[in-house]
Amino acid sequence: MKVSLKNENLFRIQRLEKDLECTLRKSESKIKQFTTLAELSTILNSTLDQEEVRKRAMEAATRLMNCEVGSLLLLDDETNELYFEVALGEKGEKVKEVRLKVGEGIAGWVAEYGEPLLITDVSKDPRHSRKADERSEFKTRDMLCVPLKIKDKVIGVLEAINKLEREVFNNEDLELFKMLANQVAIAIDNARLYKELQETFLQTAEALADAIEKRDPYTGGHTKRVVNYSMSIVKYLDMNHEEKERIKISAILHDIGKIGIKDKILRKPSELDKDEFEEMKKHPILGQEIMEKVTQLKDVIPGMRYHHERLDGKGYPDGLSGNKIPLVAKIIAVADAFDAMTTDRPYRRALKWETAIDNLRRGSGEQFDGEVVKAFIRSYQSGDISD
Ligand SMILES: [Fe+2]
Ligand SMILES: [Fe+2]
Repeated sequence: MKVSLKNENLFRIQRLEKDLECTLRKSESKIKQFTTLAELSTILNSTLDQEEVRKRAMEAATRLMNCEVGSLLLLDDETNELYFEVALGEKGEKVKEVRLKVGEGIAGWVAEYGEPLLITDVSKDPRHSRKADERSEFKTRDMLCVPLKIKDKVIGVLEAINKLEREVFNNEDLELFKMLANQVAIAIDNARLYKELQETFLQTAEALADAIEKRDPYTGGHTKRVVNYSMSIVKYLDMNHEEKERIKISAILHDIGKIGIKDKILRKPSELDKDEFEEMKKHPILGQEIMEKVTQLKDVIPGMRYHHERLDGKGYPDGLSGNKIPLVAKIIAVADAFDAMTTDRPYRRALKWETAIDNLRRGSGEQFDGEVVKAFIRSYQSGDISD
């Protein structure tokens, strides 16, 4: 009797120990999952580049759900279709081109009804469209598919396909995946808003530049050409995307200060006299005065203020020389001078391109930065710019 009681107690203790161990293991794995989710959310939200956000979203889905492939389908509002932007994983490249109508396939169903799905055996689900699998030679076994929503509007669908280690997705996975999808939707929307803001900003800058061109009939198209030449130059200089964008905006706005120059000088059909030229020389400073009120434009002021400086210090308005002149201003200076030489003025004919390029070469190291001139010539020789 005593022995059997003892055995039963021992058995109970052992069971308790096992339960405890199991609960502990479960909570450990939960903590791990939430830590990963927090990490992935930070990674997702640390960029505003649309393509990068999409790529990170798929990487996050694959990593968090421990599955074969993570997929992101975005909704094309115009055609009412879902499209695979990119799909990571072995055969991801082929999935890239697939488009599904809203309502078509599992992802289409999720987009239509705005409800998540957990499917443990895809082959038995009548909603499954074989289109993506066929194109990618990929076999979908089980999947999680959740809508990405911004203010109740579906903007896409996030999928986790084929759980690894011979497991199948469960409800806990689905709950975790829904949390990731919220973060992904926010990151995608932030990147979209940022891009829209950038575009509006660029369009506003272009509209401002157009306003000047309308007042100055002799330099029609000058700004656009200076922007094109500047962008051709930066192709041959070692620069990242942000720096190039900053140079583009600087080039668009470089002559904005001409807004403050009187019509009789700006529109004068003959060459300016000394006093008039002194007046015209104020436009870089006027440009700075107009634009420095806009905090976001702080970075484009140097291009505006210094684009008439010369390497030998004989330029204006500050007479800066050598490396004191910011690179952006050196680039715009070459683009600006080339355009001035190659366009007709009421008092002189345009120079031939070859002649203007010779002039740039001759002015290299004196008026113009040698490296910038070299980059301009390379872009001309490669056919990036042509007359
Ligand atoms: Fe200028
Ligand atoms: Fe200019």
